[in-house]
Amino acid sequence: MSTALVILAAGKGTRMNSDIPKVLHPIAQTPMLVHTMRAGSVLSPERTVIVTGHGSEAVAKVATAEDETARIAEQTEQLGTAHAVAQARAALEGFKGDVVVLYGDTPFLQPETLERMIEARAQNDLVILGFEAADPARYGRLVMNEDHLERIVEFKDASDEERAITFCNSGLLACDAEVLFSLIGAVGNGNAAEEYYLTDVVEIARSRDLKVTAIACDEAETLGVNSRADLAAADAVFQTRARSELLGLGVTLMAPETVYLAADTIIGRDTVIEPNVVFGPGVTVESGATIRAFSHLEGCHVSRGAVIGPYARLRPGAELAENTRIGNFVEIKNAEIAEGAKVNHLSYIGDASVGADSNIGAGTITCNYDGVMKHKTTIGENVFIGSNTMLVAPVTVGDGAMTATGTVVTRDVEPDALAVARAKQDNKPGYARKLFEMLKAKKARRDKGA
Ligand code: UD1
Ligand code: MG
Repeated sequence: MSTALVILAAGKGTRMNSDIPKVLHPIAQTPMLVHTMRAGSVLSPERTVIVTGHGSEAVAKVATAEDETARIAEQTEQLGTAHAVAQARAALEGFKGDVVVLYGDTPFLQPETLERMIEARAQNDLVILGFEAADPARYGRLVMNEDHLERIVEFKDASDEERAITFCNSGLLACDAEVLFSLIGAVGNGNAAEEYYLTDVVEIARSRDLKVTAIACDEAETLGVNSRADLAAADAVFQTRARSELLGLGVTLMAPETVYLAADTIIGRDTVIEPNVVFGPGVTVESGATIRAFSHLEGCHVSRGAVIGPYARLRPGAELAENTRIGNFVEIKNAEIAEGAKVNHLSYIGDASVGADSNIGAGTITCNYDGVMKHKTTIGENVFIGSNTMLVAPVTVGDGAMTATGTVVTRDVEPDALAVARAKQDNKPGYARKLFEMLKAKKARRDKGA
């Protein structure tokens, strides 16, 4: 059976108090919408439709960056969840199969839950995802009759008796596309909010003698984000879960609560992460590496046995081979550091490649930017770059070469050569003593005058 996803993402999220559309706020540095799309991808959807409204352009951009085949259906006026799903109709033209409706602001949905919804669909015409709410608050209530779902009543429209129900609506559902759009066609807006409620499809389906059921998932999975406080809480939940997963996979986190992970962080067994390390998106660390305290990594790859930090910054495109050493106050960007190479202190290596077993001295800078364009620095194998070398790119330093401390390298250095480019030293005997005396006398005159 083919499946299509319809992800509702038109809401403004007023309580976020933000210029950014709600679904683009990140959890673990990944927009909430992308979390939902990734969960949905377990169903190998034939089509994915994102219903956008507030900040439509920005939302569409993020959605299509994640999945270039995603279709965008704009809902210009937010008239309710049924109206939102109806907007996806044109984008699903010609599609035959099940539609699964998801919300763009529920980042904790588990792929297994979606699989269970599809399994339940085999025996039912319409499947709703519910959960036992610790505090049912303003959720829609699921009115069950044995295994059948009779109807969903929104909090605003519920009687006291119905409000006592704790089995609540997550908002997610699965239904045959044709059936769903036919049901939605019959939904009106004669309710307390004057909205077209998607939840009304249940009662309409029952009146047509269709089989409707609700399956339950853990409440944590349906956690929606409505405010910055919710966002922070959701991020904390994510972090706690991701850290314990890593610990389970054999990664040492010396102070787990101080390590901040991204949704896609991958770390191998026996890697040690010291306290206060931040992982941005797109980081993979292989087995047996050490990431020392206060390091910041994003968009980079760290191989086996590498030691990073303390206080290192790895930016996108940093590609570190096995047993490399990146020390304190070193920034690496878009650069390959080959096996056994060392950049231990106070350096910037950007748009560069450093060959195996080369040593980059303290304070070395690749001068990669001329104010308009970026240029590449190529350093061979077994090179020794002296401290405080400026490598003015584009420039190449051959295998086995050396640069003298303080050298400004503006021309290529051939293999095994020593490059020296600095002013010659001149020692003037006795000058220091004379200079001190002169300065002291000057100070004494000034102090007296004052
Ligand atoms: C909805 C359900 C409620 C359920 C709750 C779970 C309805 C009528 N009610 O209520 O039973 O317990 O979710 O969180 O469906 N959206 C649009 N366009 C619209 C309206 C909403 O795209 O015109 C999107 C929102 O951005 C959001 C989702 O649909 O992602 C849910 O909308 P929201 O207004 O939060 O619905 P609730 O009142 O919470
Ligand atoms: Mg809501």
